[in-house]
Amino acid sequence: MKLEISEITKYYKSKTAVEKIKLNFETPGLYSLLGANGAGKSTLMKIIAGLTEPTTGYIVFENENKKGYRNLKKVLGYLPQDFGVYEDLTAIEFLEYIGALKGVPGKECKRRIPEILKYLNIFDSRNKKLGKYSGGMKQRIGIAQALLNNPKVLLLDEPTVGLDPSERNNFKNLLSEMSSDKIILLSTHIVSDIENISDLIIMIDSGKIIKKATPSDLLKEIKNIVWETDITKEEEDFYEKKYNIVHKIKNENGFKLRIVSDENPEGKCINTLGNIEDSYFYYIKNKNKKLDFFSEER
Ligand SMILES: Nc1ncnc2c1ncn2[C@@H]1O[C@H](COP(=O)(O)OP(=O)(O)OP(=O)(O)O)[C@@H](O)[C@H]1O
Ligand SMILES: [Mg+2]
Repeated sequence: MKLEISEITKYYKSKTAVEKIKLNFETPGLYSLLGANGAGKSTLMKIIAGLTEPTTGYIVFENENKKGYRNLKKVLGYLPQDFGVYEDLTAIEFLEYIGALKGVPGKECKRRIPEILKYLNIFDSRNKKLGKYSGGMKQRIGIAQALLNNPKVLLLDEPTVGLDPSERNNFKNLLSEMSSDKIILLSTHIVSDIENISDLIIMIDSGKIIKKATPSDLLKEIKNIVWETDITKEEEDFYEKKYNIVHKIKNENGFKLRIVSDENPEGKCINTLGNIEDSYFYYIKNKNKKLDFFSEER
């Protein structure tokens, strides 16, 4: 299996949404695109899905001709970020409808739909109207429609939004399972959803890849550059301007800071164990994107 994303750039008028993105996937696995709001994740996914034309660059699946999307379309499953369901249809009706739109033969649909619903643990609700589904169940329907054609390449754009903690856990297990025979490209800005299960983390900021590595390599790299210290309110400004602050938590005397820095800040911080989130903050250049990154979960 081979998916090549070659120097993809997309301009919207004067806005550069993605710039010279180059990625090669040669084995099944879970590949996570991590980036703040507006980083370019959805644009890249839409280009891979063939819904948006890149300004320059191309996608090749297997050994297809550079301009052709045909092979890829046949083996592609896509869950868009703004996926909506028809609330009045049951799961079965909705999936049959999507199957028809995708051109999956009727017989195959009849066979695959129950299979997929069982696999996703929503078979018992198959005749319930989607309007009555919980957020997590609707998300599963989104994944079910993406799996209808038994895709080899699965694009999931922010699939964990709206899931509660137990649904998130189930979903992680499902992803691990599915990634054994598919190339899954998943976008998110929630580190905890992907840190333990990704084969590769691709950090993107302002349309560019800023870092690409396995979680274990990221953790190795971050080992000696995460620091914690308590500061007074008076020192806040100084630290804010000088250092790359991951967290700032209020305490009695001022704040407790978590900082990523090559050197021990002011020589008085305590080195602490780093995580993937620290790594993201270390590599991100656009520091004012931090708040977006935190907005949803923290
Ligand atoms: N159709 C469009 N027309 C103009 N600009 C666009 C369009 N789609 C996206 N953009 C811009 O391109 C940039 C990348 O947007 P994109 O939706 O790909 O980001 P994202 O990483 O998916 O963000 P989010 O986390 O909010 O979903 C943003 O600055 C966005 O405003
Ligand atoms: Mg998006």
